[in-house]
Amino acid sequence: MTSVSAVEPDALLAELVATPEGRADPYPRYANLRAVAPVHRSAFGFWALSRYDDCQQLLRHPGVGKDFSGAISAAGLTEEQQAQQYRFRNDRSNMLTTDPPDHTRLRGLVTRAFTPRTVEALRPRIVALVDELLAGFGADEVDVMDALAFPLPVTVIGEMLSVPAGDRPGLRPLVRSVTAVLELSITPAALDEATSAEAELEAYFAGLVAERRAHPGDDLLTKLIEAEDKGDQLSERELISTAILLFAAGFETTTHLIGNGLLALLRHPDQLARLRADRSLIRPAVEELLRYDSPVQLAARTAYEDLSIGGHQIEAGSVVLALLGAANHDPVRFRDPERLDVGRDDGPPMSFGGGIHFCLGAALARVEAQVVLDRLLDRFATIELVGAPPTHRDSLTLRGLVDLRVRFTS
Ligand code: HEM
Repeated sequence: MTSVSAVEPDALLAELVATPEGRADPYPRYANLRAVAPVHRSAFGFWALSRYDDCQQLLRHPGVGKDFSGAISAAGLTEEQQAQQYRFRNDRSNMLTTDPPDHTRLRGLVTRAFTPRTVEALRPRIVALVDELLAGFGADEVDVMDALAFPLPVTVIGEMLSVPAGDRPGLRPLVRSVTAVLELSITPAALDEATSAEAELEAYFAGLVAERRAHPGDDLLTKLIEAEDKGDQLSERELISTAILLFAAGFETTTHLIGNGLLALLRHPDQLARLRADRSLIRPAVEELLRYDSPVQLAARTAYEDLSIGGHQIEAGSVVLALLGAANHDPVRFRDPERLDVGRDDGPPMSFGGGIHFCLGAALARVEAQVVLDRLLDRFATIELVGAPPTHRDSLTLRGLVDLRVRFTS
């Protein structure tokens, strides 16, 4: 960890949001922010919460939602780009971006595919996929991001949605471009790129929907199409937007859970050895890796009414950020939070959010990460980091690695 000199809350937030150093190493900044201003109204126009209980309270509050129409940060953007940003922030066509009753309807159409029970039934297929990928690891060093962390989750969600295998790698950069709009600040160039990537994804999934409509299968996309065809349950636009959301959310975050998690273990060889010696720790270990370095670092809400959180009055209309990565390192909730402890039992991390938007794919992400760790430890006697320290993607909301070079020996 680098040392952090700033103690003024807005200076800390500015480092987190706007500097590569802050984005690469947010945890000491969160700790300072939590110490000096845990419920903070920033000069940037949003409130920031960095304590676990306050974040939970926000996300579970019935008086908050996803209408960000008042939250325009126009800095450096042309009028046309402001309109694009407005459109992204107010795209009310999938569950992630809607409030009840639309949220309830859209989420209800797919919940059954993601229950812990349904997902448990996928475990054997996930084991087979991981084994297939590991069989390709040779004696040379491997970039785990390319060889495992991306291909596993994209294959799992791709199979669920019947996205042909050959198309999946080409969709990855498009998804990455679109997720840039989740960041708190976006450059004009990134916004333009996100806009054209979104159009490409929509065209692709519109084609896939037409194809599945002509040739129905036993997949989730076909089920969604049937829901649309029945009448008023789902519009064509909602269908395509939901397919894109499920596909993107299904791999982008889990890819980073595998990368961040493996990196944390490789930097704590005692914890890796402990896990190797006691596989009953696989489940708590995955919870701990989610907590220690979460792939999603924040979730935003708009207050629809005046809120009272952590002794502060937050007025209706405010945008409020739950800093999930900060909540995960709150010492009131997690003993000695900067320590990685694969046997930790302090309760669940905030990494999957909370309230009605709690991550739909949590069970799936957990099973994929559990299988990866278990099979890696079965298959390889030693696992070690090689080369230069891995670099982080330059983003805050979605936290992950660009590459992760590792040597495995049987
Ligand atoms: C480690 C991996 C994952 C993490 C850390 C993660 C995190 C999150 C978080 C924090 C939210 C809430 C966002 C908010 O409140 O604004 C969310 C929502 C969501 N996640 Fe995940 N996610 C992961 C994997 C997955 C997977 C595998 C899927 C599978 C499709 C998925 C699908 C979704 C969906 C559909 C939502 C929207 C739920 C709603 O709005 O009701 N996620 N996720």
